[in-house]
Parts: sequence; C-alpha cells; structure tokens
Amino acid sequence: MRSVVLLSVVVGLVITVVNGQVPTPPPLQTPEPSTESPPETTAGSTEPEPEDLPLAEKCDEELCKLPNCRCSSTSIPGGLLPRDTPQFVTVTFDDGININNIITYRNTLYNRFNSNGCPAGATFYVSHEYTNYVLVNELYNRGFEIALHSISHQTPQTYWLEATRDIMKQEFGDQKIQMSHLANIPYESIKGMRIPFLQMTGNASFEIMKEYGLEYDCTWPTTTQTNPGLWPYTLDFASTQDCVVPPCPTASFPGTWIKPLVAWSDLQGVPCSFVDACFFAPNVLDEEAWFQFIVTNFERHYLGNRAPFGFFVHEAFLSAWPAITNAFVRFMDMVNNLPDAFMVNSHEVIDWVKNPVPVDKYKAQSCRGFIPTTCSATSCGPLNSSHNGMDYWMQICNVCPRVYPWVGNPLGL
Ligand SMILES: *[C@@H]1O[C@H](CO)[C@@H](O)[C@H](O)[C@H]1NC(C)=O
Ligand SMILES: *[C@@H]1O[C@H](CO)[C@@H](O)[C@H](O)[C@H]1NC(C)=O
Ligand SMILES: [Zn+2]
Repeated sequence: MRSVVLLSVVVGLVITVVNGQVPTPPPLQTPEPSTESPPETTAGSTEPEPEDLPLAEKCDEELCKLPNCRCSSTSIPGGLLPRDTPQFVTVTFDDGININNIITYRNTLYNRFNSNGCPAGATFYVSHEYTNYVLVNELYNRGFEIALHSISHQTPQTYWLEATRDIMKQEFGDQKIQMSHLANIPYESIKGMRIPFLQMTGNASFEIMKEYGLEYDCTWPTTTQTNPGLWPYTLDFASTQDCVVPPCPTASFPGTWIKPLVAWSDLQGVPCSFVDACFFAPNVLDEEAWFQFIVTNFERHYLGNRAPFGFFVHEAFLSAWPAITNAFVRFMDMVNNLPDAFMVNSHEVIDWVKNPVPVDKYKAQSCRGFIPTTCSATSCGPLNSSHNGMDYWMQICNVCPRVYPWVGNPLGL
C-alpha cells in the first residue's frame, strides 16, 4: 500500500489529503451483451401523431423515490450531509470534434486522474457537421463520454424552439445510430443529449428519449436554484426549475433525468450557464483572476450543498485565450488533488444520484468501465450533401457512405 500525501492550496485554505488507498486500475466491467438492436433510422418513416401526453403533477416524495424517480430539489440525494457528499465536477465541450480542437482535449484532459486513482472524466456533446469520427473514437477509448448535440446544429434558433417530436427524432434519435456507426462505439454507451443553443423544445425532445435509450438531458439551465444548487432529478413529476429558455416540458416522462446547468455568477452577479458566456468576466489575459473566478464559483457548490459543478465551455474559447486555459488546467489540478471532489463523465453523476453513497464508500468503488473498440480509419470524400450541395470529406471508422450523412439520411445511404 502506497500512501500519498497531497498538498493543495485552495484559495486561503490548505487541505492535506492523506490517501491511503492505492488506486487500482479500472477493472473492465463486463458489459451486458446487447439484446436489443438499435431502432431503424427514421428515414422515410411517417409517424402518427402521438396521443396527448400525461400532464406532470406536483411531485410526491412518497411516490417518487430513488433509484428511478427524484423530485426536483436542492436537497442532497440520500439525505447525506454535505461533508459526506462527493463533489462532482463535470467538464463538458460542445459541437464538432476535429483535428484542431482535439489538440486542446489531448493537452488538458488526457492522463488526468482523480484522487481516488480513477481517470478524470469529461463529456463531449458532439454535433455531426465537420466531425472527425476517428477522433470521436479516440475520445471514447480514452474513457470520455460521447453524448449527442444534434446532426445539423442548424440556425436559426427558432428551428429548435419549434422542433416537433419527429424533428427531434431525426436530429437526436438518428444521431445516436449515426454516431455509433461512424465512430464505431457501442450504441448503448451514448446516454445523454444537449440541444443546440440550450433551446428547450417543450415536450418534444423528451418524447423521443426513452425509445432511443437516452437517459439524461443536459440542456436546461437554472439561474435561480444556484445557491444551494439544483441536483439532477427526473421528469416523472412537475419540475420546479425556472424556465430560462422556454418552452420547458410540462408532461410526465418517467425515468428521464434532467442534469441541470446550474449557472455561474459573473463578477457583477449576473448568471451565466456557459463559462464563455459570462459577461462581466475577468480580463482574458489574466490567468490569476480567471483561476480565482473559477474557484469562487466552484466554492459555491463545494462549500454549499455540493450540487454537481459544471464547467461548460467551447474549445474555441480556450484555444483563443491561453491564460484562461492555464487557469482551467490549474483548476482541474486542484480538483484532482481534493479528497472529496471528482471530475467525472456527466453520466456518472446520474449513476451516483440513483444510488447515492457517502464519499468514503464512493472512493472505494471501482472506476467506471467501458467496452474498448477499435477504428479502421477511413477517409471519405468528396461526399455530396443534399442540404447544401457542397462537397464534404470525413474521417470515419466504417465503410464510406454514398453521400454526406444528414438529417433524414443519417448514414448517408
Ligand atoms: C406538453 O404536454 C402537456 C401534457 O399533455 C401539455 O399540457 C403541454 O401543452 C405540452 N407542451 C407543449 C409545449 O406542447
Ligand atoms: C449534389 O446534390 C445536389 C442536391 O441534391 C444536386 O443538385 C447536385 O447535382 C449534386 N452534385 C453532384 C456532383 O452529384
Ligand atoms: Zn453547440
């Protein structure tokens, strides 16, 4: 047994971590053999209009119990005390994965470990256009979470505001099939989604999640339940969350999880859901001020009810401002040295909330596992695209499609 003593200075307080546990490498969880095959893509199908959805009623704590139901609330799952609660940190990046932004991901996220010895996680909400699926395969095989951010990511934002269930099926249901095919990653490994521009689509997006095995949504910001912060919850019953980007769902969607985007507070106290959207932020050249800014927001969670802390950002913001990237790396280093804070994949937070265990027990658990896959990298192009007539090239882990994959033809057949 190795004993590790880590010293970490957290703005004003010195924390000594005595970690007597030698991290064991993550045992590969033997995956359940998949019994169900992915649903067919929606190409060419016409769906009957759905029946009226059941209206979500006021949440009843007696009827709504873990692991599969949780009322929306700021109370800590399992009735744990803050000091017994693991502080989860979820770093997420949105949009296409390409040869430029992968450099930042490799430099900042690879070979990073939490204090329990488990690999640090991060989640990528990937949109299809210009995505290099060979690199998606690489991220997946590094243990990061691949989640959905739509095929088209198209403007205007009203496209999403008005999106019907069928559009959400084509943009997200089909994207799950597309992602697993082009990047050669297990269909079942894709569990989360985030709608472009954080534009909620009422009930529509939630109507398709069950059918496609999507377990949680990470689109919905809260600017009122930030201190204490809102914990993830299910949509069995009516949500108490403020609707920042309406329309929000009002029907009941049993077992579907919301991982709220608990807003940061900028230097003037204005809420921001994305780090790169904070208005009164420190000077982009001032690493120290940025580090303090990040830590101040983190402490609202860490010294509060330990609701999961999100660092939601776009890579372009980091590559544009090296000082902010340095501050971000220092922040992750700090988190990785804390005995009770953990950088994890978003889905791991949902897993923990379903079965909340005190931090000591959590630390003794095995690390997350995943089914490794390979990629026979293929370069495809020019591929004509039906939506704009342009030629595209793409790197994938499968045989080349006939045309550029798009909404309504996610495999490019
Ligand atoms: C969502 O479904 C509920 C219950 O059927 C309904 O009352 C509400 O109008 C729907 N919301 C939207 C935006 O369509
Ligand atoms: C590409 O697709 C567009 C739209 O479907 C079509 O008008 C055009 O002729 C195609 N170009 C080629 C080279 O096939
Ligand atoms: Zn986006």
